[in-house]
Amino acid sequence: MISTGLPNFDLTEISITDRSGKKRTIPTRIAGSGQPIVFLHGYPLDGRMWEPVMARLSDKFRCIAPDLRGFGASAEEAMSFSIDDLAGDVYGLIRALGVPNKIAICGLSMGGYVAMRFAELYPESLGRLLLTNTRGNADDEKGKLVRIESAQKALSGQAQQVVAPMLEKLLAEKTRKLESELVALVLDMMNHTKPSTIAWAQLAMAARPDSLAGMSHWAYPTICVAGTHDLITPPDAVRAIANQIQNAVVHEDSNSAHMTPLESPDWFAKKVAELFAI
Ligand code: MLT
Repeated sequence: MISTGLPNFDLTEISITDRSGKKRTIPTRIAGSGQPIVFLHGYPLDGRMWEPVMARLSDKFRCIAPDLRGFGASAEEAMSFSIDDLAGDVYGLIRALGVPNKIAICGLSMGGYVAMRFAELYPESLGRLLLTNTRGNADDEKGKLVRIESAQKALSGQAQQVVAPMLEKLLAEKTRKLESELVALVLDMMNHTKPSTIAWAQLAMAARPDSLAGMSHWAYPTICVAGTHDLITPPDAVRAIANQIQNAVVHEDSNSAHMTPLESPDWFAKKVAELFAI
């Protein structure tokens, strides 16, 4: 792992029981005290992407940022997994940490897909939701095929070819020019994502169900965040989520692309705090 001037939090191995009843450990950053918030990272990233936001919030909140199954410091997964499996791991994590019901979850992109499935599968356990740089619709057939090809490439020694083109979509041009530490961190997360995890995550995202239809029944206080320059989940995709959820609020950050929490951490941390004022 690289060392940057960015904040750095220790990892604690939390033992959980997953949806299939299997014991596993989830390396997790835990900092601060107060109302708990679980931060779920995107792909091909890990929990380090939340550290600048955690540094700004841990004086008021208990910030919990796992490396999801297979990602970051998590063990390599021999078997494929689903987005529901990742949501089940998050449920196991909050049970293992003794976090009270009605947890706040903040998920970016793939982490948002996990948060949305958590909302469907564990409604009693969820209190508040922040969905950032993510979308509620499932992939179309073409999108699924692209993911299956990416998974095949990753498993046949071409993981770099799958992840390398993502950098310029993850970060806005201005960020790439001016924020060398952020670029180094994002590259390090991308380059350390295991080829098997790239494959399993692509297959999991291809198979994820549409979340938009069920959302009209959700009553969780919800904030949706978009980055103006985000080409992966453009602001309209974020607005489509907010249009489905009662009383959801949308905020758009004109500074960022897909990594709004990293590209605009002060602005983003304020939005997370606002979640508790709704
Ligand atoms: C992510 O940032 O988590 C991914 O780009 C999401 C996706 O591929 O749909």
